[in-house]
Amino acid sequence: MKGKLVILIGPPAAGKSTWLHQFSGEVISTDDIRRREFGVQYDQQLEPAVWQLAYERLEEYIRSGKDVCFDATNTTRGRRKPLIELAKKYGAGVEGVVFLQELDVLIKRNRSRPPGKKVPEEVIKDKLQELEMPSYEEGFDKIEFLEVFR
Ligand SMILES: Nc1ncnc2c1ncn2[C@@H]1O[C@H](COP(=O)(O)OP(=O)(O)O)[C@@H](O)[C@H]1O
Ligand SMILES: [Mg+2]
Repeated sequence: MKGKLVILIGPPAAGKSTWLHQFSGEVISTDDIRRREFGVQYDQQLEPAVWQLAYERLEEYIRSGKDVCFDATNTTRGRRKPLIELAKKYGAGVEGVVFLQELDVLIKRNRSRPPGKKVPEEVIKDKLQELEMPSYEEGFDKIEFLEVFR
């Protein structure tokens, strides 16, 4: 049986990881990999290793037909492309879930996070700025837009 890949799309603090509570498949989170496998919140030097591990795990889950959610910001087409290509390679479905949220809400939520989960506000601004809305041309079978109000 072929599974589906769910790609979460949204800036930091938009509610992506919280949404996972109601997802029943496997989860790959680049934040969890950074923390659990490398013991860092973020380290530029380790990013290639983090992403290599994330892609390897993703391929493993997709190849074995599991439903899997890829929890990262995934804000650009360039970031989403390799994920979608992997899903297509094994005939898995591809869904996008977009977390739309205003900057002031993101900043407020970020400030109320525990210290180890706070993201620099510049990163939130940059990610919101670079956000490219997903389109069906990228290969999605379904795209859901979540408007999360304050
Ligand atoms: N629907 C929501 N309403 C209010 N606060 C939320 C909601 N979803 C998430 N949060 C809070 O916002 C913060 C960021 O959520 P999180 O899921 O970690 O975001 P992301 O994974 O996108 O960075 C957390 O403190 C979380 O409790
Ligand atoms: Mg998260």
